[in-house]
Amino acid sequence: MNFKEEIRYKTEQIEALLKDYLPVEEGYQKVVLQAMNYSITAGGKRLRPMLMAESAALFTDTEEVWRFAGSGSQGTDLAERTVLGRTLPLFMAALEMIHNYSLVHDDLPAMDNDEYRRGMKTTHVVYGEGMAVLAGDGLLNYAFETAARAFDYAGTIEEYRRIAASMQILGRKAGIYGMIGGQCADLEAEKMDEGVSGEMLLYIHEHKTAALIQAAMTIGATLAGAGHAEIERLGKCAYNIGVAFQIQDDILDVTSSLEVLGKAVGSDEKNHKLTYVTMHGLEKSGEQVEELSREAVAILTSFPKRNAFLEELIEQLIYRKK
Ligand code: IPE
Ligand code: IPE
Ligand code: MG
Ligand code: MG
Ligand code: MG
Repeated sequence: MNFKEEIRYKTEQIEALLKDYLPVEEGYQKVVLQAMNYSITAGGKRLRPMLMAESAALFTDTEEVWRFAGSGSQGTDLAERTVLGRTLPLFMAALEMIHNYSLVHDDLPAMDNDEYRRGMKTTHVVYGEGMAVLAGDGLLNYAFETAARAFDYAGTIEEYRRIAASMQILGRKAGIYGMIGGQCADLEAEKMDEGVSGEMLLYIHEHKTAALIQAAMTIGATLAGAGHAEIERLGKCAYNIGVAFQIQDDILDVTSSLEVLGKAVGSDEKNHKLTYVTMHGLEKSGEQVEELSREAVAILTSFPKRNAFLEELIEQLIYRKK
């Protein structure tokens, strides 16, 4: 398989896995479940679960990682799976749920007030603001409920420890010292006409975006049994990928179109956001994306096992158009 075929295959696997873990739309709470599923089935790159699986593959057999990824928890092959084959898909789904909740809330009128996401109307436009708030809350809680099911599959103390460590990473990186912290500073910065420093801008990017990318890669490594130093090094690699990813997002907000990007461009200007583009200009921002990404690849190549697909993925993200 070439890179294009491989990424398509793996993205399909992740789609199947997510479908497996979606809540059934029934009962008096049916509407909130529909709103949750509407947001999560709308597509998207599925980058975070992809990075999680590929990071696990750095420390174990790549085949083992992808053999079960697409079949979620319902597969008839459950009995044949290794502990990693059972626990990794749960965390992949959980992280994508958290990412989706962050998008549903980020698009609300009280935040970025955006009407399009992944080429479709945003959740609050379709279901109303109250239901979109609840759908976000629902996704966040269901994510932790899903991840916690991994404990059912642990047998040894070491397996329990890996799952517990992964739960902690997920909570920390999604929370007040991670993504929520970044979103808070992002909103604060909107109100500051001047005085947003380069340091604050970097804080925003590190937290609102890089934190979940770090969660993806360090949880993948943790579940696959990587050591402390290796996890730390991979966290730095993920940091670079994450900051570069948000700078590129800022660039595309200026240079792309609704048709290509699937979300309205000019959102940052509309909201008076300070971005890498407004602070450094398009050209310098592009150079930063490249530099951070090349550094990330260099860190990756220092691991004993090479992952050519992951290296190529980081390279491709530099030039992504959506
Ligand atoms: C969008 O994330 C929000 C940012 C952190 C820039 P993605 O660009 O990964 O969104 P999807 O999941 O592919 O739609
Ligand atoms: C959002 O950054 C990051 C999140 C935590 C959701 P943006 O506000 O720039 O993301 P988009 O452009 O709406 O996807
Ligand atoms: Mg935002
Ligand atoms: Mg936004
Ligand atoms: Mg943006």
